[in-house]
Amino acid sequence: MKLFIDTANVQEIAEIHAWGVLAGVTTNPSLVAKEGRDFIEVLKEITEMVDGPISAEVLSMDAEGMLKEGIELAKLHKNIVIKIPMTAEGLKAVKGLHEKGIKTNVTLIFSANQALLAARAGASFVSPFVGRMDDIGNPGTYLIEDIVGIFDTHGIETEIIAASIRHPMHVTETALAGAHIATIPSDVFKKMLSHPMTDQGIEKFVKDWDNRK
Ligand code: E4P
Repeated sequence: MKLFIDTANVQEIAEIHAWGVLAGVTTNPSLVAKEGRDFIEVLKEITEMVDGPISAEVLSMDAEGMLKEGIELAKLHKNIVIKIPMTAEGLKAVKGLHEKGIKTNVTLIFSANQALLAARAGASFVSPFVGRMDDIGNPGTYLIEDIVGIFDTHGIETEIIAASIRHPMHVTETALAGAHIATIPSDVFKKMLSHPMTDQGIEKFVKDWDNRK
């Protein structure tokens, strides 16, 4: 499973990218709004840092508007992927962008059928929201398993991004379920990295070395 970072904060991206683990970035309007910066400027900085798919979400709700926004955003850099909400208008925009050779990531996926529709409209990626599914009492990991099963059975090449990742177990579980990608907030990356036994082990090695005869 490839690892993307889910943020519009360029410092966070730089910090995790320095570990050498990042294959892409996802943003959404809430994450961009939190930064209080110009969206296009942020996107340009991200494209200079990470060489992989970078999802930028449209704000229009109608297919024509989404298409227009998507075409403009895609001009920024070859790695820009247009993030489109899972609606009928969104599917029309996905089809239109696909026909122009522009990659899309259909977001706010909460059922296997939504993922199937998005894939058939020509989406390059689908983003099922694992944490938000858990929030309403439906294990998000089961949704990933269902989508993986359907895509495998029918030879669908759309990549599955496990999104709305809240903690390290989500990463492990979605990796085991077969998601191609997990998009992970920086605080979860840091929790994945550390383990008390590692810290204790390092402390002991240093102490033993310092006390050598
Ligand atoms: C997906 O690409 C979204 O940006 C994201 O994962 C949303 O997660 P949240 O439920 O933590 O807002």
